[in-house]
Amino acid sequence: MRTAIYPGSFDPLHNGHLDVIERGARLCDKIIIAVARNTSKDGLFSFEERVELIKEATWHVPGVEVDCFEGLLVDFANAQRADAIIRGLRAVSDFEYEFQMALMNRQLSDRLETIFLMPSQELIFLSSRMVKEIAQFGGQIEPFVPPPVAGALNRKLQQNPQP
Ligand code: PNS
Repeated sequence: MRTAIYPGSFDPLHNGHLDVIERGARLCDKIIIAVARNTSKDGLFSFEERVELIKEATWHVPGVEVDCFEGLLVDFANAQRADAIIRGLRAVSDFEYEFQMALMNRQLSDRLETIFLMPSQELIFLSSRMVKEIAQFGGQIEPFVPPPVAGALNRKLQQNPQP
């Protein structure tokens, strides 16, 4: 049984993430989407909201589990008996950070491989930060995020409208 961890901030999940999850699910028996609790980034969604939204957006993908983790990714991955870490790679600009992280994770735990998957090219420009910015300034986010995320973003911004 091949298990992979797909870690990230997912604030919120967008269609590029979903594309990577669908590709990963074709390679592994189980893919655990792991929301990192200890990122330094300010979050729009709470960790519980992110987990819930990911569950709603991935119900159709076989072998998916969603969880949160705190501390080192390799510790979480080893506790889950995972074989690999999946990361999406969008552009050359991602490469340096991803390369550094993959090699550091290998130093920490040699048994875990990092697998890079590229999303479909029409999704390659997407980022959670841009999706939030578009939503904050009243742009259409529906083409970029799964329907549960679009609904949640619109509700969140109605509660906290921009000045
Ligand atoms: O979606 P992101 O923000 O690019 O995800 C980054 C993430 C959460 C995968 C990374 O920050 C991480 O693994 N954090 C857990 C702490 C850790 O293991 N750090 C060492 C990585 S070399």
